[in-house]
Amino acid sequence: MLEDNDLPQGEDKAIIVEQMFDQIAHRYDLINRLMTFRMDVRWRRRTVRGLALEPGSTVLDLACGTGDFCNDLMRYELNPIGIDFSAGMLAAAATDAPLVRADALRLPIPDSHVDGITCGFALRNFKDLNSFFHEISRVVRPGGRIGLLDVGQPSHPLLRWGHRVYFGTLVPKIGALLSDADAYSYLPKSVDYLPESEKMLTELRVAGFTDVARIPLTGGITQLFLGTQGT
Ligand SMILES: C[S@@+](CC[C@H](N)C(=O)[O-])C[C@H]1O[C@@H](n2cnc3c(N)ncnc32)[C@H](O)[C@@H]1O
Repeated sequence: MLEDNDLPQGEDKAIIVEQMFDQIAHRYDLINRLMTFRMDVRWRRRTVRGLALEPGSTVLDLACGTGDFCNDLMRYELNPIGIDFSAGMLAAAATDAPLVRADALRLPIPDSHVDGITCGFALRNFKDLNSFFHEISRVVRPGGRIGLLDVGQPSHPLLRWGHRVYFGTLVPKIGALLSDADAYSYLPKSVDYLPESEKMLTELRVAGFTDVARIPLTGGITQLFLGTQGT
């Protein structure tokens, strides 16, 4: 599907990403748990706690995939709505939360309508991250909260090296064995789409969020961005 170091851009990227997740949906949860040693569960719950929203708040989980974040939001007595553009991922979802098939960059949601937003491991998959930040700013009410998770780069050199070897070599092998070789070789390459964290913090501020913070998790292999809608 993809040549080495050939990362698609624009509309091509959106089409390839949607097809890729349709393709890997049936084994997505299994491989996620295996390759993160179940740490993904802890990272999502840390994100939900970081929102610090009142029970009963409405939270959009964008790029919800198979619904893990929705389940964690419900565990904390929040009311999630999952949104994803991959019909395959939504069909494989195991959650009681309402799910909607839509593009996270063009949300079918009125302005200032929700109390919070979560998004797990999808920032690098969007064709335009800046548009995404502006779109979430549009739909979150003033004072509402966002929690965005994605992969990161550990700052410790040894951990950084080990992570590169694991993520760049072993994960594609596990993926090829249990699911789809192309998709799981794209995964480590897709990290190159993510801007430097300082740039992301600036873009979030420009989009209207205050109190923005980046929290490295598990030595920085994952990063959490938190913010409050300021306008
Ligand atoms: C790596 S999965 C993450 C799934 C889930 N959030 C999790 O934490 O496991 C990325 C998800 O992003 C979705 N996605 C990517 N771009 C999207 C877009 N523009 N609109 C909606 N969903 C999108 C994919 O379909 C896929 O389900």
